[in-house]
Order: sequence, then structure tokens, then C-alpha cells
Amino acid sequence: MNQPDNPRRIIIAIDGYSSSGKSTMAKSLARAIGYKYVDTGAMYRAVTLYAMRNGMISDNHAADAIAIEKALPSIDIAFSIMPDGSQHTILNGEDVEDQIRRMDVSDNVSPVSAIPAVRHHLVKQQQAFGSERGIVMDGRDIGTTVFPDAELKIFVNAPAATRAERRVKELRQKGIDASYEEVLANVVSRDHQDETRAESPLRRADDAVDLDNSGMSIPQQDAFLINLYQERIGKK
Ligand code: DC
Repeated sequence: MNQPDNPRRIIIAIDGYSSSGKSTMAKSLARAIGYKYVDTGAMYRAVTLYAMRNGMISDNHAADAIAIEKALPSIDIAFSIMPDGSQHTILNGEDVEDQIRRMDVSDNVSPVSAIPAVRHHLVKQQQAFGSERGIVMDGRDIGTTVFPDAELKIFVNAPAATRAERRVKELRQKGIDASYEEVLANVVSRDHQDETRAESPLRRADDAVDLDNSGMSIPQQDAFLINLYQERIGKK
């Protein structure tokens, strides 16, 4: 039987549309309950950055699937915790956290993440990260493909305009200048590409809890998630 002070460790899958605030929610929940956090979007972004640097993506955003598949064994992705508690993405030993958030990476990430070999490779790593459970993972296919047996699945959505406004604010805070129109177009285009790709498209798992967080503050989102988590581990 589970001890009250030693609750069973579960998998929490947070999926949803681009810039829906999934990562902020997922990070905050993981910190509050002492779980690992994995941002799977960062992994697709890191592969995209590698492909861009190595001439595997054309100016019109076409990805060379064969070259990228061949390069996968040379792409090492890890996460590192910074002294301020933030998590950075490390590509072959280099901290690329800022670079993978750039607009040119956002513009190229959907074609790269549609390549089946890329998905199989990253999904395997993601499953290994969660092998001991006690993890919060966010992405597009976590509740459907990576961990279909996750004990708690959340599907986050908010109107595209709200998501674009948030993303512009986030980018500006990081010193990256991007217009609202440009970001909105990218969000809408990524939604479409993520939903229509053949391999593990963005889809709400049948047993996911829906969350439209457009009118919610961060503390309200935290409370909502902690409540669900406590319910799932049998503390409520
Ligand atoms: O969460 P994000 O916006 O940083 O993700 C970047 C892209 O990566 C997103 O447009 C689609 C892709 N992605 C994916 O295909 N599957 C995931 N599990 C996570 C992200």
C-alpha cells in the first residue's frame, strides 16, 4: 500500500498547441511536486538547429529527411539545470537554450518533427527519461504515443491570438524582437502542420483532462494541476 508521505510516482503528460503555456505549467508543477521535467519541444528544436547548421534545411523550409536520419546518431541532446533552477537544452555539449527559441528555428521545426525517424529516435529517449516514472513531460504526443499509460494527461488549449500575444511577450523578455503578425502566422502554421502530419500528430488523448487556460493566472493553473495530481495519487 502507498504510504501517505511516500506517494506513488506517476507520469504526467501535458500536451497541447504551440505557445499554449504548457511548458510554464509543466515546469511549475514538476518543481512543486519534486518531479523531473522534460520539454520534448526543446528536443525537436535541438534536432532542427543541428539540421539548419549542417545545411539540411532549404530556404523554403524543406527538410532533407535522409540526411537528418543519418545524422541522428551524432546528435546528443541533454538537459542541464542552471544555478537559478532553470533547465537548459544542451546539444552535443553546447548550451543552445536561447538559439532553439529563435523564430528561424520555430519556422523550420514542424517539417523536421514530421520525419518518422526523428520521432522514433526522440520518442525512445523520452520513454527512457520516464522509465522510473516521477516525471512531467510536455509536448504534442506524450499522452497518445510516448506514454499512453500516463496516469494524468492534460490537454491545453487557448485561442491562437492569445497564444501569439503570450509568445511575443516571452520573446521580447528574452530580447528577441518579433512582430505579433509574424508570431501569429507561425503559431497557426505550426498548429496545422502538427495536427496533419502522418506520424503521431497532435491529438487529444481520449482520457485527457481539457484545460483552456486563457483566462487563468499562473497560480490558478498551478492550483488546478496540483489538485488533479493529488487526486491521481489518491491524496484526495
Ligand atoms: O513545444 P514547442 O513549441 O517548443 O515545440 C516545437 C515543435 O516541436 C512543435 O511545433 C512541434 C514539435 N513537437 C512535436 O512534434 N512533438 C512533441 N512531443 C513536441 C514538440
